[in-house]
Amino acid sequence: MNILVAGGAGYIGSHTCVALLQSGHSVVVADNFSNSSHETIVAVQHLTGRKLTFYEADVTDAAAVESIFLQHRFDGVIHFAGFKAVGESVEKPLAYYRNNVLSTVVLTEACRRHGVSRFVFSSSATVYGDNRSPLLETLPLLPTTNPYGETKVISERILTDVAKTDSSFAVALLRYFNPVGAHESGLLGEKPKGTPNNLMPYIVQVARGQRDCLPVFGGDYPTVDGTGVRDYIHVMDLAEGHIAALSSLKAGVHVVNLGTGKGTSVLQLVKAFEAVNGVRVPYEVVGRRPGDLAECYAGVGKAERDLGWTAKRSLAEMCRDSWRAERSL
Ligand code: UD1
Repeated sequence: MNILVAGGAGYIGSHTCVALLQSGHSVVVADNFSNSSHETIVAVQHLTGRKLTFYEADVTDAAAVESIFLQHRFDGVIHFAGFKAVGESVEKPLAYYRNNVLSTVVLTEACRRHGVSRFVFSSSATVYGDNRSPLLETLPLLPTTNPYGETKVISERILTDVAKTDSSFAVALLRYFNPVGAHESGLLGEKPKGTPNNLMPYIVQVARGQRDCLPVFGGDYPTVDGTGVRDYIHVMDLAEGHIAALSSLKAGVHVVNLGTGKGTSVLQLVKAFEAVNGVRVPYEVVGRRPGDLAECYAGVGKAERDLGWTAKRSLAEMCRDSWRAERSL
């Protein structure tokens, strides 16, 4: 298939481009580098030995998107082009609604105009709000605590409503749990600008001495050791989940969790990282972060049944590959 990957230079997008190219698909990337760089595109081509077509374009810009669609015949679109920092979304709600919602509208309009019927959307487990884990796709969505989460809910609704008007439109709403790790070559990875918001990039920076100590947000949750529990998934497993979704995609809306189904606490992740990589990660338990849940992990039966996909890589591989990428990038 010939696939347009919006946001293909980002963390999850670039790993998915690798998986697409390695599975024999052709890839056209549109990215404005708002949180990524051209080096990533070079690295994707280098490590797959294949070329992709690249446009530096903002996918909220309808004219730019139209011009890309006029130059290619796409079989499907994967939409990763979103802002993702929860705290920033509270400070800049309009920037988040504009970027994350408008991009969905513009890309979907282009698909309708050009007869492209497959659409894969990067959603998030955040849409489950504070439902109890394991989180199943059949649960009702609950309010999220921030504009970032709302943009995911709204984009899911837009795509669902469009599918109701066209019985040939095939949409996958992929709800990601907590992606970590990197391609095993060490040539790709997550390079957040500024202070990391997420746990693994913070652990890595503490391990290399760039920061003194990891703040552990809350030690009094009703969990195995009092710290927050999440479902960490290797980014290459996540990337391969997109290939499975694309290949099995049929008309209609398909909501699927991409996670491992296993919960890991903050301290369990820290210990695993130290043991696998032979490094120290000093930490200090501080107050809870507002909006955080005690526990969040996936029900994974639907992904297995509908996509024939399960996450394969271990927590140790996630820790090893995050650390390798940090040292080689
Ligand atoms: C967060 C977002 C989620 C978003 C996802 C991807 C919140 C409340 N949720 O998920 O909506 O889809 O990122 O961007 O922000 N932790 C620490 N110290 C740190 C950082 C994190 O203890 O310095 C803890 C957190 O309290 C949590 C766990 O580590 O228990 C994972 O945190 P994080 O990586 O930020 O992911 P989520 O909060 O699950």
